[in-house]
Amino acid sequence: MADSIQMNVTRYDPDQDSAPTVARYEVPLRKDWAILDGLNYIKDHVDGSLSYRWSCRMGICGSCGMNIDGEPKLTCAAFLSDYAPGPIRVEPLSNFPVARDLVVDIGDFMEKLPRVKPWIVRDDVTVIDGEYLQTPEELEEYKQFSNCINCMLCYAACPIYGLEPDFIGPAAIALAERYDLDSRDRGQRERLDILIEKEGVWGCTFVGECTKVCPKHVDPAGAIQRYKLKAAQENVMAFLLPRGTR
Ligand code: SF4
Ligand code: FES
Repeated sequence: MADSIQMNVTRYDPDQDSAPTVARYEVPLRKDWAILDGLNYIKDHVDGSLSYRWSCRMGICGSCGMNIDGEPKLTCAAFLSDYAPGPIRVEPLSNFPVARDLVVDIGDFMEKLPRVKPWIVRDDVTVIDGEYLQTPEELEEYKQFSNCINCMLCYAACPIYGLEPDFIGPAAIALAERYDLDSRDRGQRERLDILIEKEGVWGCTFVGECTKVCPKHVDPAGAIQRYKLKAAQENVMAFLLPRGTR
């Protein structure tokens, strides 16, 4: 194995640059180094002005997502050696405005997420009523969808979100399903009302890239299909039952 590998990293300061440029850096090629270690090497030893996000280094915080050779990845979980002999292309996640270098602005997701009420909706009880116990089977129902770390890889991979920025997007829909499946929740009706709108699940043409790139196996494409079924059932009920009896 060679001693070093080249990383071709996008640099861009929207306040100063008319367009992004590519900077080429040589970093040590160590078997146990992730792409993030290569970026940290550049920042510590070559160019301290390089901007990118990270925090946990263990696939938990969701902040280190970037496009590596064109594919959305957690850079703390993708290894330099897997891209040898290189060079490795490191770019900001697609479909989001770039704030600086490899840092993207996820404000659009943060604005959309609360629309699906990603919390337990209960207005029939108060907190002082005590705990709401669940069986392991009830937990299992929604556990997969609760693994989302908001890393935005699914939005970067989604061609629909790229073309239709109003689309509420894969992770928000997966999180809606997470709460719908929670035995303590009563918010299914409210979420469905949001997700059967044009910018809800119908925007998705089931490309399925979101599920392929998800590092936590959340399966947002599966959540979208479930909501399409619920919406279709709702339409059938609306057709069969007179208004006010549903
Ligand atoms: S669904 Fe997966 S890819 Fe999308 S934000 Fe959540 S963890 Fe990341
Ligand atoms: S640094 Fe937290 S997920 Fe990569």
